[in-house]
Amino acid sequence: MIIYKTDAEIGLMQQSAQLVSKTLTEVAKVLKPGITTMELDKLCDDFVHDHHAIPSFKNYKSSYPFSICASVNDVVVHGFPNNEPLKEGDIVSIDLGVILNGWHGDHAYTFVLGEVNEEVLKLVRVTKESLYKGIEKAVAGNRIGDISYAIQEHTEKKNGYGVVRELVGHGLGKSMHEDPQVPNYGKRGDGKTMKENMTLAIEPMINLGTREVYTDRDGWTVRTADGKPSVHFEHDVCIKRNKALILSDYSIIEAAEKANPNLNTSYY
Ligand code: MF3
Ligand code: CO
Repeated sequence: MIIYKTDAEIGLMQQSAQLVSKTLTEVAKVLKPGITTMELDKLCDDFVHDHHAIPSFKNYKSSYPFSICASVNDVVVHGFPNNEPLKEGDIVSIDLGVILNGWHGDHAYTFVLGEVNEEVLKLVRVTKESLYKGIEKAVAGNRIGDISYAIQEHTEKKNGYGVVRELVGHGLGKSMHEDPQVPNYGKRGDGKTMKENMTLAIEPMINLGTREVYTDRDGWTVRTADGKPSVHFEHDVCIKRNKALILSDYSIIEAAEKANPNLNTSYY
């Protein structure tokens, strides 16, 4: 069942999404080789609590042990923060969910530490572009499959990347996962018709090599089958008539990213 939100509720969801953006901005300020994802987990957990919200991933399904997912290199999503120092050449997706005033925000950004090869940099660029291509189709009257197709077209068909099939975007609201599912692959004209004030988390997970993935023995960490890198970007959006309203905000993350000499922003 799809739950449509009132304009007031959309305003609250925007605050939740933007708290995630602000937290990821704090991450963008401190990221550097040598820092550990466990330190980032603590920073995010503290920041969210200081802003009167609760990290939503922690204890999700009575199981996920941390406040963020930190997915490095061949980890697609749901990577556990750990005490291994990040190093030059790593790409790291930080995914964070919060509950603020009862409403969920859930989004992610992939950071590039220093020099990486051109191939990887292009994967980061194309994945971020595909998120916006999907969002362009996220308007009232279009179908979910139009979003899916746009993402798959840009990544798999045009660039030969692997589009993960096992994990998808989703509706978002008072729960982190609501209907409908938003796959990153599919056919134009398929799926539910979008209507105003539907709220979605759109999240391409794109592999440099094969689309095949497996889950580690920890039960969560999803890795590429071929060990090649994977990139993940996620925005929260609200469906409107001509253009989706993006509830999350990359502009503050990108400003901090550009100001941090340890991060590579040469791809955009
Ligand atoms: N953005 C992811 C999702 O929408 C994050 C979930 S992590 C979990 O599914 F630990 F909470 F599952
Ligand atoms: Co999500």
